[in-house]
Amino acid sequence: VLEGKCPFGGNTLGGAQTSAPTLSDWYPQRLRVEQLHRDGAAANPLSDEDYAAAFATVDLPALKAEITQFLTTSVPWWPSDYGNYGPQMIRMAWHSAGTYRIADGRGGAGQAMQRFAPISSWWDNGNTDKSRRLLWPIKQRYGAAISWADLIVLTGNCALEIMGFPTYGFAGGRRDAWEADDATYWGPEHIDMTAPSSYDDMVSRDQRWTGSPGDADYELQQPLAASHQALIYVNPEGPEANGDPAASAVDIRITFGRMAMDDEETVALIAGGHAFGKSHGQVAAARIGAPPENAPMEAMGLGWHNPQGAGNGADTMTNGIEGSWTPDPTTWDNAYLENLFGHEWEQTRSPAGALQWTPADPAAPRTPDAHRPGVEHPLMMMTSDIALKVDPVYREICQRFLADFDAFTLAFSKAWYKLTHRDMGPKARYLGPEVPADDLPWQDPLPAPTGTPLGADDVARLAQAVRDTGLSTSDLAYTAFSAAVTYRDSDKRGGANGARLALAPQKDWVVNRRTVPVVAALREVASRGGASLADVVVLAGCVAVEDAARAAGHDVRVPFTPGRVDATQEQTDVPTFEWLAPLADGFRNYTQPDLAEVTSVSPEQLFLDKADLLGLSAPEWVALTGGLRALGCNHDGSSTLTDRVGVLTPDFFGTVLSPDLRWRALEEAGTQFALDDVDTGAQVHRATRHDLVFGANAQLRAVAEVYASRDGEARFVRDFVAAWDKVMMADRYDVRAG
Ligand code: HEM
Repeated sequence: VLEGKCPFGGNTLGGAQTSAPTLSDWYPQRLRVEQLHRDGAAANPLSDEDYAAAFATVDLPALKAEITQFLTTSVPWWPSDYGNYGPQMIRMAWHSAGTYRIADGRGGAGQAMQRFAPISSWWDNGNTDKSRRLLWPIKQRYGAAISWADLIVLTGNCALEIMGFPTYGFAGGRRDAWEADDATYWGPEHIDMTAPSSYDDMVSRDQRWTGSPGDADYELQQPLAASHQALIYVNPEGPEANGDPAASAVDIRITFGRMAMDDEETVALIAGGHAFGKSHGQVAAARIGAPPENAPMEAMGLGWHNPQGAGNGADTMTNGIEGSWTPDPTTWDNAYLENLFGHEWEQTRSPAGALQWTPADPAAPRTPDAHRPGVEHPLMMMTSDIALKVDPVYREICQRFLADFDAFTLAFSKAWYKLTHRDMGPKARYLGPEVPADDLPWQDPLPAPTGTPLGADDVARLAQAVRDTGLSTSDLAYTAFSAAVTYRDSDKRGGANGARLALAPQKDWVVNRRTVPVVAALREVASRGGASLADVVVLAGCVAVEDAARAAGHDVRVPFTPGRVDATQEQTDVPTFEWLAPLADGFRNYTQPDLAEVTSVSPEQLFLDKADLLGLSAPEWVALTGGLRALGCNHDGSSTLTDRVGVLTPDFFGTVLSPDLRWRALEEAGTQFALDDVDTGAQVHRATRHDLVFGANAQLRAVAEVYASRDGEARFVRDFVAAWDKVMMADRYDVRAG
């Protein structure tokens, strides 16, 4: 310390990295391209591990026996309710999976994102930090052989099983994330995440919804699935904590629909889940400490400190509602539905002040206290539970389940399996002895390959047959890219394998219109050549890229790995594939005309998001776009800012980086731009935000400069080919680990 000096002078240990304000505080509109480089190998201490091999060393029955032992052994720092951690572990697993949303495939149980902010610290995830911490001794014993993501789901399964519920199956194979996900858009609201909240506070939802529950235009902004920021799905107290079960049902249908669950699955999950455990609401939310991400250092990653009594056990405060749904909360039975329908329910408040429901009939069954022997309480329902009784469609399903417990059990079993495995992608990624043999529609099944695999001679013959069709390099490249670009690394759906480009709904998308005649011609090539359409479509892309490179004077080989198969229409779940239709796709320069009405996200943000979902780095994104422009791959055949379409040059970058050209927004919204000749004033080009972002954004511009430089062309061709191949192979879990 330098005495007598200015307190801000003198020695420091360097800058206070990441102190606010940060770039995004200063420039909230900036496109955060650096997101593409998060959670890479550099962040992963196990990047040299083969997870499949490590998981194969696990004796799954022995691990399950350890989990079972743990579930029924209460520890003093967080005593179990009813002597059984099962219910809280089911909730942990459900919340781990329940962030999944079909629109962009993000969320879900696949990476144990529940460990990181913001999800770790959402009010709705209260005390799931304790559930994970309770599991740490088992995780510690197994180390790299079982990921957190797998352990969380497996523990949920074990919990169900020890309480008498027959699970449908379990697959390992989830790879953990190693840092917070800062890429997922969780909604527009700036709510205070640093302090505890309560469901009563969760009323500011107007920015994500249009209309009111019951209105014909009531809709949730895409790609969101939760009804409110920091919730997994819906507010248990009803929309805006209004206690209205009918309105709650509307929200449940929309939000569970965004999780790709139909009405029957939704009822099975809610009624099934709430057969177990209890809700915790002993203390006013205002007295609860900060969530894990904002908790004091000595809390060691745990949040929501509860000052009342022991702060746990009988004093537990989680979300604010108090009580159990059934008289026997650690046994699988039909009591949830029996009580929901067997009694009238009236509104009341929990000790914490939350809105909930209690039987009007004083003679209704009661439920034991979770900790104090001999003490009993009235049963409890949430507004979101009463919703199942009030909504006519849910009601009918509930009554069917009430009359047929086996049907209910099977429906919940299958829905739980789907919930927890939905984002794992192809079954080729599933590991372990408990993987069910059957194919389920949500797994986007593919047929087994038939015939002999294509050899080098076959490939050369097919490539020639593709050339003989006389189709342009532009059309061939466009078609191959359109087949592959649906892939998303979030839930590992989409991709060229299966040739679903030729099936409903993809064949009918506006953005795929250009591919229809090309697919028809390539189908001929495939059937004459004894190959799958999927392989021929991808091969056609390789042919196009090689020819375009040759036209530019580069002799390159584009890798081609055969082995793709063709799915049938029956194997293609049309409603859920419809979600893969792009709102915008900058690679093909496509923007849905009413984009601004369905989302507040800009086209270039969606472009960045797509690059991220394809697993591309910034250089790969830039090179791939430059190549697609060179190949004339705009969806409507419009100008791609190059004079030499079909020749693999970086000319596109030359145009967007040129200081001699002046661009002009054509409308106030700034979605279309004109390039005028500075001398004559005549318009010479049109472009979109998908084009100009490569000149306007500093990070993308820096990369584009590399390719546009005099020494950049060979590098561009090489990088484009590598990025192209990466996209073509993105879904090939049949031939690579992952
Ligand atoms: C507990 C809400 C769906 C399983 C809870 C709690 C709330 C809640 C507020 C109390 C948390 C606490 O204070 O301890 C909802 C809402 C749902 C929903 C609003 C949808 C409308 C589900 C589903 C499952 C599930 C789909 C599983 C399939 C559970 C379990 C508990 C629980 C097992 C008890 C946890 C314990 O005993 O510690 N739920 N839930 N819930 N939920 Fe749900």
